Amino acid sequence: MAEPIWVGVRLRPLVNHEIGQEKCLNIEGNEVSIVEDAIDTDRKVAVTSDFDRKSTFAFDVAMDSTDESSPSFISQEKCYEIMGRRMVGHMLQGFNTCLFCYGQTGTGKTTTIMGKAQPKSERGLLMRLVDDVFEEVDKEQSNSGSQVHVVMQMLEVYNEKLKDLLATSDFGPIGPGRSAPKKINIHVHPELGVYLTGAIEAPVKTAADCINAIEYGNAMKAVSATAMNAQSSRGHTVFKLNMVKEGGKDNLSTTSEVCFADLAGRENEKTTQVTGERFVELSFINKSLLYLSGCIQSLGQTAHRRRQTVAGADAMKPKGADMSRFRNSKLTLLLSNALSGNSRTSMIGTLSPAAAHFEESHNTLRFASTVKTIKVQAKAARAVDKDSLVKQLQKEVQQLKLQLEQAREKHDDEDISAISVQLEATTAIVAAQTRDWTHFQQESAELSKKRTKTMESLMAHSSSQVGDCPLPYLANYSEDPHLAFRLVMHVAADGEEHSLGSGPSCNFRLPPSLGVCDVTGYIRNEEGRLLLRPAPLPHSIRRDRPASIEVNGEKLSLEPAELNHLDCVLFGHSTTFYVFLQKVSPEELSEKLRAPYEIDKEEWEVGLTQKVVNSILGEAHGTAGARRPRNPTRTTDRACNARMSLQKLTTKLRCRVIGRLISLGVTTTADTAQIPCIAEVAGGRLASKVKHMKDRKKARLRIASFTAVPR
Ligand SMILES: Nc1ncnc2c1ncn2[C@@H]1O[C@H](COP(=O)(O)OP(=O)(O)OP(=O)(O)O)[C@@H](O)[C@H]1O
Ligand SMILES: [Mg+2]
Repeated sequence: MAEPIWVGVRLRPLVNHEIGQEKCLNIEGNEVSIVEDAIDTDRKVAVTSDFDRKSTFAFDVAMDSTDESSPSFISQEKCYEIMGRRMVGHMLQGFNTCLFCYGQTGTGKTTTIMGKAQPKSERGLLMRLVDDVFEEVDKEQSNSGSQVHVVMQMLEVYNEKLKDLLATSDFGPIGPGRSAPKKINIHVHPELGVYLTGAIEAPVKTAADCINAIEYGNAMKAVSATAMNAQSSRGHTVFKLNMVKEGGKDNLSTTSEVCFADLAGRENEKTTQVTGERFVELSFINKSLLYLSGCIQSLGQTAHRRRQTVAGADAMKPKGADMSRFRNSKLTLLLSNALSGNSRTSMIGTLSPAAAHFEESHNTLRFASTVKTIKVQAKAARAVDKDSLVKQLQKEVQQLKLQLEQAREKHDDEDISAISVQLEATTAIVAAQTRDWTHFQQESAELSKKRTKTMESLMAHSSSQVGDCPLPYLANYSEDPHLAFRLVMHVAADGEEHSLGSGPSCNFRLPPSLGVCDVTGYIRNEEGRLLLRPAPLPHSIRRDRPASIEVNGEKLSLEPAELNHLDCVLFGHSTTFYVFLQKVSPEELSEKLRAPYEIDKEEWEVGLTQKVVNSILGEAHGTAGARRPRNPTRTTDRACNARMSLQKLTTKLRCRVIGRLISLGVTTTADTAQIPCIAEVAGGRLASKVKHMKDRKKARLRIASFTAVPR
């Protein structure tokens, strides 16, 4: 029987940069209502159609995680009880099951799905489900005598490219010793659904194995994010767990799959005003989410039409033809099974209560309401006689080979490539169905060892281990708490110099990124003092030019510099690490990293406002004072990096800038339209400098030297 998708929403508390804002959403029972008084008129005007006038939205569950002291507070554990536990049941009954999180960036998608590995109370849905699945697998094996194999996959869809997060070779430049990563293709088999070729399938024997592999995948995300200085994970993360039950009394085989998708956060291209690489990323994210919502809308409409059909005569028509709309993007294709195929599907819409994010939250509520109208037909996996399935698949392979030959004779290139792809997928499915599990597990144990080695060479740690790392160490920084402090370099107190860079021979391997050389610098621990010096640039004519390393915004010369506790070190143009000479609790850390904003915020804002105003006037009148940055991407990257923390500040700043411009008589829309972008970029650039300045004078000096106004 077709079942509607189970839809929940989760409201997170106000986070640091939102504190002080009014809450625009309220949860009671299973309903989310809009607090009209908290939203200013401009925002309400944007919401005009009939549907949009709705002020209450009902879902299967509405989870309020805003106030820990409230009896209705939904903790990570309760969230799992409501949304996750049912998925274990589905899997055991032989159904495929999928959960995806959708919401604006920074609203709690990764927290809900992944959470933190430690403490256990912070674990998200995935790790809790893994624990339960393996408990059930053990029971099943001892009760029925059958063999249960669990295989996992973890992928990222970034800019419409699929990246295998479990791969061990996907690091560093392609060359001797490192081949290009395997290309991953998505196929849809008419009966078996979505199938991936080229992606690693890792058999996992215990929950701990599985969690280690998940942590490896998360660390790989941190590596690429650190290399790009990204403020959050800008790809969709898809996690799949396949359970294959074989043998037992009946000697049949059943397969069921759990899939989790942590979708990248939607952002408004106009209001975020990002440019360069970040804009490309955002366009890809928004485009794939647009296709996803397009698919969902049309599935929703189909469901609506079906309900109107008197006897529902066409309700169960095969949906093969509908696959075309899923082929627009990799994300929709990956989720096609969950949305229209054979799966019991759930969705969580994540929401911020802050009034400033009302439009985005409203969008999520509308999206979730549409998802609720979709019905998916899930069939419990039939126990299949594996021999006959393999025979049928082998027959398909023979037919495809024949068709390929005919297409080659006709020189029909289109057919040749379509059939080749189909043939590749079917051959891979046959191989998977006939795999020798013992051999497969041996291979996988090798891969697991390789993953551990890669983790070591990348200094990658699971978030839980960072605090246990011996001092002193440097750890990567990202605004996304799920990616920060995962890459750690501990410098042993041996007085020796240790090389750091992206080259394979370095003692500490940095993620390859702009400005990071094979050997970027040397670090040594001399009786507890950390000394860092840049390496000479390798291809520079003058051997005295150092590779690019900045400490707290100051470029290092070739001389060794002593690092202090919580100094910020920038390797190349975007790889940021913090120095830890003492143990710091996460709370203390976030306080410390935030504290410099409070030094002279008022003074800083006044100075910045004047600078931005001058720049705008320079731009508007085509005069000097608006020097173009030599490296706009870098400036934009830094702006992006600081944007999240600056959100509160820049709103105020924008008002100041607009106010100042109006007082100067500059009121045309052409001028003011540039303000958010300029304030944001200028704010970001300055913040990245000012952030680490302990000395007010130095901070003011930096503000005075600011002139760049990228468009
Ligand atoms: N339920 C919650 N309780 C407390 N804090 C939360 C909760 N959900 C999210 N947060 C906080 O909100 C911030 C953003 O969360 P998270 O990284 O999960 O968002 P996201 O939706 O995955 O963002 P992005 O799309 O940028 O990846 C984090 O600081 C996180 O600690
Ligand atoms: Mg996230």
